[in-house]
Formats: sequence, C-alpha cells, structure tokens
Amino acid sequence: MALQSIPRVALSSGNAKTMPVLGLGTGDYPHPAPEAVIQAVHEAIKLGYTMFDTASAYGTEEALGEAISQALDLGLIKSRDDVFITSKIWCTENHGDRVLPALQKTLQNMKLEYLDQYLIHWPVSMKPGSEPFHVNQEDVVPMDIKSVWTAMEECQTLGLTKSIGVSNFTCKKLADLLAFAKIPPAINQVEMNPVWQQGKLREFCQANGIMISAYSPLGAAGAQWGTKGVLESPVLMEIAKSKGKSVAQVALRWAYEQGAVIVMKSFNKERLKQNLEIFDWELSDEDSKKIAEIEQSRACNGKMFISETGTIKSLEELWDGEV
Ligand code: A2P
Repeated sequence: MALQSIPRVALSSGNAKTMPVLGLGTGDYPHPAPEAVIQAVHEAIKLGYTMFDTASAYGTEEALGEAISQALDLGLIKSRDDVFITSKIWCTENHGDRVLPALQKTLQNMKLEYLDQYLIHWPVSMKPGSEPFHVNQEDVVPMDIKSVWTAMEECQTLGLTKSIGVSNFTCKKLADLLAFAKIPPAINQVEMNPVWQQGKLREFCQANGIMISAYSPLGAAGAQWGTKGVLESPVLMEIAKSKGKSVAQVALRWAYEQGAVIVMKSFNKERLKQNLEIFDWELSDEDSKKIAEIEQSRACNGKMFISETGTIKSLEELWDGEV
C-alpha cells in the first residue's frame, strides 16, 4: 500500500501521462547486480514510487524491465502505463542513423513497447563500439546534433517513446537545439543539488518550457562521479537538525521547491521510505537563503571526454563556460 502520493508534473511533449516529481535512479558503478535492482524497484513500488530511470550505459535496462514485468505478474502494478520509464542513449549511438536502432535495442532489453522518456545522455558523440565508463578520449568525435535530434524526433513520432529530451546540456547547447528542433526537448536531466544549484540553467529551461530533472540530488556520494559535499554539508546538517529531518530529506525538499523533477538513488528500503517523506513540510525563507549561499562545485564534470589533442579540449568547451 502506497504511503505517500508523489506529486506529478505535465511535460511540454503533451504526453497525457504526467511525470512523478520523484523517482528512483538505477545508475551506479560498478553496475548494481540485477537482483538488487529488481528488489529495490519492487520495494519502491510498494512505497508508492512509479518513476524509474535507467540508461544504456548503466547496464540496468534488463533488470529494470524484468522488475516491471515481475511487478505486473505480482500485481504490484496493474498495467505498464502505471509506471514512468526513462532511458538514455549512449554517446556511441549519437549518430543520426544509430538512434532508432539504439532505442529499439533498449526496448528489447527492457521488454517494453515504449518508453515514457528517451534522453541524449551526453552532448558527445563517440565512435561506435567504444566502451561506456572506459572512455578513450580519442574515440570522441564531433557531434552532428541536428541529425541526432531529428532521429530522436522520429522515435517520438513513431510512438516508441512518449517524450524526448537531453541530459548534461548547457544553455548554449539547448539554444542551438531549440533553433532547429521541430519537437523541443521536454526535459534536461542534469546534476542538481544544494552544492551545484544550476541557477542560470534553471532560469533558461523555465523560460523555454523545458523541465529540469535533477540527478545526484544527494551528491551521489557512493558513486564514482559523486561527492560527499551534500550529505556532509554543515549548512544542510544544521537545517536538518532544526527541522527534525535528515540531510537527505532537506536536499530533496530543496530540489522539489526549485521546481525540479528528482531522480534519487537508494536501494535501501528504509532510505527509500525516508526519501519519500518530503511533501508535507517546507523549508523556511531563511533556510532557502542559507542554502543559496552554499559554495558551489560540480561533481560529475565529464572529464572523461576531455583531451587536449581530442575533439573536446577542455571542460570550458564541454560546459560552454558553465563550469
Ligand atoms: P543507498 O543506496 O545505500 O541508500 P544520489 O541520489 O544523489 O544519486 O545519491 C545516492 C547515494 O545516496 C547512494 O549512495 C545512497 O545509498 C545514498 N542515499 C540515498 N538516500 C539516502 C538517505 N536518505 N540518507 C543517506 N544516504 C542516502
């Protein structure tokens, strides 16, 4: 029986199904074992989560698909339409003629007929066959965003995904995309938490009808790309103490109050429950002011794509100066 009802938001894609503002991510490295993913997804569904996030690079598409299929058999959900599923295309498939086959492969991995959301994982193209998580910078090639996005639009038109979007895109890259897109991106999934607040990007996205989805809302402390800076923030600790909440709850509540959709990761039943309990209280103006003053730094910076002799020569270039 669901404990909490998670608010939902409409996306610019016009999809009749709205998107829950809080969901469970499955990205970790080393990749989580399939049984761990299946168990976490089932616990999450029992608690009331219905939004789940994966990516071709995470190695969890099959397990998430299996978890959904088992959840149907077990009666935890009544129909596939009850869950909102996102996956992402990896950089090796960011070529016009490879996008549709990549989505078809994802659907096959997940045994699904459609995704709710398909995202370009990074604004980076790589030679086909290069390994995710072991990026050879020499395999990074110039990205033809127009042909990639046109193929993403075709995926939506064919009904294989209900909405399309991007991840790790800057204001400049979004503006370039919006200049020619027939279907604008519904979402930009980016690192967002109290230590990397993304103020400028959020303003741009809001003005252009693009929903921000926050990944690493807790700093992804356990992951290769993460930081302990969120869960160990003295400012957040003080607010948490004064409110009788956990630091994680304060960080998640902050992201929710900024209007973001949140992709949180926990495979722990108690923490899944705790992270859901953020919708019946609020941060004070004073709390928000203190959080706004936290020193900023990006944890997941994409440095694996950068090489002085390669296609993307600096972090400034990857992030268009937003570093
Ligand atoms: P675990 O899976 O053991 O719960 P993010 O959501 O930013 O990607 O962060 C994920 C990390 O934060 C994971 O290591 C996860 O560990 C941990 N985590 C998730 N929820 C909580 C919580 N409520 N308190 C402390 N750590 C948490």
